[in-house]
Amino acid sequence: MGRCGRSKAAILLPFLLLIWAESAMGRFLVEKNSLKVLSPESIKGNYDSAIGNFGIPQYGGSMAGTVVYPKDNRKGCQKFEDSGISFKSKPGALPTFVLVDRGDCFFALKVWNAQNAGAAAVLVADHREEPLITMDSPEEDRAAAEYIANITVPSALVDKAFGEQLKKALGNGDMVNVNLDWRESVPHPDERVEYELWTNSNDECGVKCDMLMEFLKDFKGAALMLEQGGYTQFTPHYITWYCPEAFTVSKQCKSQCLNHGRYCAPDPEQDFSSGYDGKDVVLENLRQLCVFRVANETRKPWIWWDYVTDFHIRCPMKEKKYGKECAEEVIKSLGLDRSKIEKCMGDPDADADNPVLKEEQEAQIGKGSRGDVTILPTLVVNNRQYRGKLEKGAVLKAICAGFEETTEPSVCLNGDVETNECLHNNGGCWEDKAANVTACKDTFRGRVCECPVVNGVQFRGDGYRSCSASKTTHIRSACAASGPGRCRINNGGCWGEKRDGVTFSACVDSDDGKCKCPPGFKGDGVKHCEGTSASEVKYGWGAVWLVLIVLGLAGGGGYLVYKQRLRSYMDSEIRAIMAQYMPLDSQNEVPNHVDIDRA
Ligand SMILES: *[C@@H]1O[C@H](CO)[C@@H](O)[C@H](O)[C@H]1NC(C)=O
Ligand SMILES: *[C@@H]1O[C@H](CO)[C@@H](O)[C@H](O)[C@H]1NC(C)=O
Ligand SMILES: *[C@@H]1O[C@H](CO)[C@@H](O)[C@H](O)[C@H]1NC(C)=O
Repeated sequence: MGRCGRSKAAILLPFLLLIWAESAMGRFLVEKNSLKVLSPESIKGNYDSAIGNFGIPQYGGSMAGTVVYPKDNRKGCQKFEDSGISFKSKPGALPTFVLVDRGDCFFALKVWNAQNAGAAAVLVADHREEPLITMDSPEEDRAAAEYIANITVPSALVDKAFGEQLKKALGNGDMVNVNLDWRESVPHPDERVEYELWTNSNDECGVKCDMLMEFLKDFKGAALMLEQGGYTQFTPHYITWYCPEAFTVSKQCKSQCLNHGRYCAPDPEQDFSSGYDGKDVVLENLRQLCVFRVANETRKPWIWWDYVTDFHIRCPMKEKKYGKECAEEVIKSLGLDRSKIEKCMGDPDADADNPVLKEEQEAQIGKGSRGDVTILPTLVVNNRQYRGKLEKGAVLKAICAGFEETTEPSVCLNGDVETNECLHNNGGCWEDKAANVTACKDTFRGRVCECPVVNGVQFRGDGYRSCSASKTTHIRSACAASGPGRCRINNGGCWGEKRDGVTFSACVDSDDGKCKCPPGFKGDGVKHCEGTSASEVKYGWGAVWLVLIVLGLAGGGGYLVYKQRLRSYMDSEIRAIMAQYMPLDSQNEVPNHVDIDRA
């Protein structure tokens, strides 16, 4: 670096410090899971490993496997098939956990290559001695984005010393068996899960942003069910940065910040002179926060999910509709009090704190078991940062793992979080092949063997070796059963019907065994329910699903268009915001607890 460069760095150094002053007070925590070596004896014990931020960790579960360290392609940067290596385990054998070395290519590529060759999980051995870091996915690489979306195996980074121990044991010809355990990755103290999503209203920020929006739409149905059933308390959050005082009058800060440099976001196009500015994004983020607050006051916090998904569809940047006018139409259509939202938002030009945004900035700093939030999007479940793919099934698994055992709502026991253990040997449960009746039931915690109800008849027995139909126990007893999952069994003995692809049901999980016609229907709930007027039906669950489907279809079309216009910074907002102010000589200057390992 020349003299000139050095002096520039000197001026900008305080700036860097200012940006990081707040987060330095907190700390960055790497989410870990426990790795237990079962054999050989010499290295038996528990070790820490850091969960990768892609793939699907088995939150709430555990997984045993045999470690293999490939002879060739030890960094996993090439396809394993090319050197004739396969990790597919033989029937009856433990699944293969592939150990690869860090370096030369993206973490995600190593995991992708190993998955394609049949690995069930991937362990990456660090190549330098350092505290564990979070392996993140590259956010600007289109080609990488395609395969990252398809990574399903879990991955974990292990430290250098432990990596060496594993290799040594394998070198000695030992069979190395390990168990990866995610059961304590999410605390599960009680029957309510608190979770928060750190998100952004910006819809033109590339791959990660598309994934986030897709997740919001996908997850909305589950979020509504969890929230309305009182199972969860969800809070949305938005990251903002602040402009160092010396720069508040600069063009950059003026275009990116509200309240005289107090709350900023990077420019959506990274171009100050055209399109939307960072401050437009902060303003919409503030509006979304206020939508949540106002909705929460009326005890309907879930309206936030409707607002953000509707806003995304109706007010995209691409169509130049992102902004106040369009937002207010969405607010109106959801029946929210516009004046309350405006009052909550305050004056964005005032040279004063905004209480809502100030709270957000404070919440960014880590507390207790949660580290600082620096990656967008970030999901936090029971005050622990979630790691892994932001995808409905995977996230549901993590949330479900946050309930005290046996208090999980029924949404945790449906198909989205199944483990497919029943597919193998019927999970070791009882079955009557001829009658096509099984006691194996998939749940996110693994399979359970439980005698089923078939055609209104409750089978009884231990579920493992025997189940038999008891004719006296008719459907009402199944209906009288309560608790999560009741409606899954023969619809709890209640009325249910499919109309135009929408399922209506009179079974309500929380209603202690009673059947109740859905809103807009009348009847005894057991044998029949009749639809009443169309306007009433509109508020029924069926209609909610219908709306979701329509939204989904509308959104799907929009995405094809978005995928062409992509510049991404979401995840590396820190890097991006700094790069806008100063040329970064090396990415190493950025405090670095998250890494994508770009060679
Ligand atoms: C990812 O999966 C999708 C759907 O299964 C498939 O169409 C696509 O080709 C896959 N991408 C890669 C890079 O394998
Ligand atoms: C939402 O409401 C609940 C109780 O009604 C309250 O405990 C919570 O703090 C509120 N959240 C926000 C962000 O205002
Ligand atoms: C057995 O039952 C399951 C669901 O109950 C169904 O999907 C499957 O097709 C049935 N198989 C046979 C052979 O009838």
